[in-house]
Amino acid sequence: MSELKEPKRYLVTSALPYANGQKHIGHLAGAYLPADIYVRYLRARKKDVVFVCGSDEHGTAIPIQAMKEGTTPQSIIDKYHHLLKENFEAFSISFDIYDRTSNPIHHETAREFFTYLEERNELEIKASEQYFDEAANTFLADRYIKGTCPQCGFANAFGDQCEKCGSTLSPEELIDPVSTLSGNPPVKRATRHWYLPLDRHEAWLRQWIIEGHKDDWKVNVTGQCKSWIDAGLQARAVTRDLDWGVKLPPKTGEDENADPDRSGKVLYVWFDAPIGYISATKQWALNHGKDWKPYWMDPETKLVHFIGKDNIVFHCIIFPVMLKLHGYIVPENVPGNEFMNLEGDKMSTSRNWKLDMQDFIDDFINKENGGPQMADALRYYLTTILPETKDSEFTWKGFQDAVNGELVAAFANFFNRTFVLMHKLTGGKVPKFHNDLADEKDRELIEIIKNAPSRIQQLLEEYKFREALFEVIDLSRRGNKYMQDKEPWIKAKDPEAGNNQSSIENCLHICLQLCANLSIYISPFLPNTAKKMCQMMKVVDKMLDWENAGSVKLLSVGYSLRSPALLFRKIEDAEVEMQVIKLKKGLEESKMQQEETNNKLKEAETPANSLKTEIVYDDFDKIDLRIGTILHAEKVAKADKLLKLEVEMGMEKRTIVSGIAQHFSLEALVGKQVIVVANLAPRKMRGIESQGMILTAEQPDGKLILVNPDTLTQPGSQVK
Ligand code: MF3
Ligand code: ZN
Repeated sequence: MSELKEPKRYLVTSALPYANGQKHIGHLAGAYLPADIYVRYLRARKKDVVFVCGSDEHGTAIPIQAMKEGTTPQSIIDKYHHLLKENFEAFSISFDIYDRTSNPIHHETAREFFTYLEERNELEIKASEQYFDEAANTFLADRYIKGTCPQCGFANAFGDQCEKCGSTLSPEELIDPVSTLSGNPPVKRATRHWYLPLDRHEAWLRQWIIEGHKDDWKVNVTGQCKSWIDAGLQARAVTRDLDWGVKLPPKTGEDENADPDRSGKVLYVWFDAPIGYISATKQWALNHGKDWKPYWMDPETKLVHFIGKDNIVFHCIIFPVMLKLHGYIVPENVPGNEFMNLEGDKMSTSRNWKLDMQDFIDDFINKENGGPQMADALRYYLTTILPETKDSEFTWKGFQDAVNGELVAAFANFFNRTFVLMHKLTGGKVPKFHNDLADEKDRELIEIIKNAPSRIQQLLEEYKFREALFEVIDLSRRGNKYMQDKEPWIKAKDPEAGNNQSSIENCLHICLQLCANLSIYISPFLPNTAKKMCQMMKVVDKMLDWENAGSVKLLSVGYSLRSPALLFRKIEDAEVEMQVIKLKKGLEESKMQQEETNNKLKEAETPANSLKTEIVYDDFDKIDLRIGTILHAEKVAKADKLLKLEVEMGMEKRTIVSGIAQHFSLEALVGKQVIVVANLAPRKMRGIESQGMILTAEQPDGKLILVNPDTLTQPGSQVK
């Protein structure tokens, strides 16, 4: 283990999820599950640890989702804050507090932070020009501006991205930009923003990360930091012209709205959100009559940020600079995870290729044969595929195999077998251990039990949760192997022979002690399972304290234990097949929706009345247009748009089928003169040969009118 001195206390954070929508199991595996495992392990070691998280409720993501759902930003954050909080609870993520950045304590804390930096000249103000909507009287965030993509020509690209070709854009690049708020072209307006000059801190960052943490941070994390620093650090704007977020505080001594330059501005979401960790700690302290300060100010606190890889720079470069400037502690480690793919493709909310936490809850946990055990089953599989060093992949088959083949077949099986045999062969009580009769195999397993904690502990402290869990499962496998070697059920058939009963007792005694140990180790990973195991062993949860790990005296001789109950149910083929179908269906549906919106956008792109391509006179001259008089009109059977017209053309009568039934009454047509395309090749429609076409014009409301001569004219007259 790298650190020599044990920290006095721990503060563990998980990235605050945006309260703008559902979160999927990739998120769960990225920043929440590993943190929870770590925290539960620390608690088992009786460490002073606070685990904070909460909803990130600011940024343009929120008002944009509100527009999409046709509601207010406030109702969006309320809806998703509560949903996410409940989702995390369903997966037994044991935050000490799940707060939210709309909490007034957070607004206060974030504003104080800004003021602190501003007063010490740690921020720079820079003037710039930004798009402004004069009708809506507001500066426009990038997403609020639409225009033509300079890359692909798509007419409805956003100011930050073209959804057609995927290029990242800035609003300045858009051709013919318009505001999505008013539909008007925006104007450029001078504005001022506050910047955090990261360049001033380059030397410190290099020293702290590249030198200081080269051995204990993950290489994917330090690697990203290094390339950022090497690329040259720049000042980052920490304010935005927006009306959703933490309002910029007034200058010290001034009134709230005294400075027109400051009103209408909020703190940039990535400035305020990580401060949410501090605000949440304050709220937690308030709730529990504690002092929050040592958690952020005492260098003997170990601060650990659990995040996904898209958050690395914010947690390793920008926020630490802010923390250092304010005199707070900086993180000891930032175990950033890579991404988890799903069934061979990237998980994605926009493409609907994902498994939301809520979906798993609905389909597995809140089912009759579900419950917290199913939450543990997912926790198990996710832990075995945590993307700790590289991207990983979730498959439903993998889920089924992990649960049925490892959790049930190795872990639960060992526990169940031990309990069944103990009831059958040793009267439902913990049998005596006969030291004098212990053989090589007994002693070997006892050694393994005693040595297990230090290995598992080391892996947990190095954030190698996958490997730690493999160790635990391996331990249960060794238990199974030992049981198989000892064959107590065979010996039971011949109780007379030698020391068979003592050998059975030794075997079950050791197996039961191993069961007790396994409940301790499994507890950080599968807390509900560990509790259930304790119930069966009739021990209080305190037995799960880490100080008991490695002991072979956890269950006392003669103690009677409960009958075994099922720890896990198997995952059926039909269940996983259904999930794969559901996933593919979801993708299809979202593709269709996407197409629909694209088509709508395309229609908007090419207005119906734009000119057709240019032709020459000869092209026009080929068309023979004549005056005709409608003699008769009737409906075409089974075609609600078509009419069959009989038209007098002078030399002959023509039958013309025309798609105008919804625009005229039959009576109104008879006797009317029309212009007929007379040399159009005949065409069969609904079995009737149409020998021409009549001209109509479309009104703005979509209604058709006839085009006809302004005085009664001889049928057959040429129109030129
Ligand atoms: N809301 C951000 C995201 O989902 C994470 C914020 S982490 C915090 O990517 F540190 F800023 F809180
Ligand atoms: Zn484009």
